Amino acid sequence: MTRAAAASSSDSGPVLQLAPVFPRRLRDHWLDPHAAEVVELAIDLGRAAGLSSAALFELELVARLHDVGKDAVPHAILRKPPPLNDAEWAVMRRHPEWGFEMLVDVPGLEPVARAVHAHHEHWDGNGYPQRLAGPDIPFASRIVAVCDAFSAMTTERPYRGARSVAEALAEVRRCTATQFDPAIVDAFVLSFPEQVGVA
Ligand SMILES: [Fe+2]
Repeated sequence: MTRAAAASSSDSGPVLQLAPVFPRRLRDHWLDPHAAEVVELAIDLGRAAGLSSAALFELELVARLHDVGKDAVPHAILRKPPPLNDAEWAVMRRHPEWGFEMLVDVPGLEPVARAVHAHHEHWDGNGYPQRLAGPDIPFASRIVAVCDAFSAMTTERPYRGARSVAEALAEVRRCTATQFDPAIVDAFVLSFPEQVGVA
């Protein structure tokens, strides 16, 4: 059993309630390797932060479902290699809001919905869609933001290669206190002790 699965095994109620909401896509999000990596990284950070088992479970759901709103983005935009034009970006940047709408009415998932809504907010207030800043951004969103960015950078895409762990950590560090919560960046970097001093 993975650490993430262990965190979720105590309460699967809200997960089961998700099934009637979007049954076809739920399975895809559960099996998506990027989402699975974000879950693993996020749970490690959540444990390091001393989160309770209930908070870890909520964090797992946020990590697993952070991009569920992309189901509402047309495939022509979602699958298009960069660069997107301004109109396409305007559509893409609505996915946190659409994810919120998909989840907010599921009993017990309102906090998860709010965190999904905020996963592209920036610590300095320059993110989207609500331009939240600092501790006004849900803690789970701040954790997932770092893990999501790191996972994306270290994953090869059809239009670009993967960055090394050292390069991705350097980029995460570069964005501390602007895009990312500095305390979470510090904890994240420390979780790669073999990389300290490399980049
Ligand atoms: Fe996203």
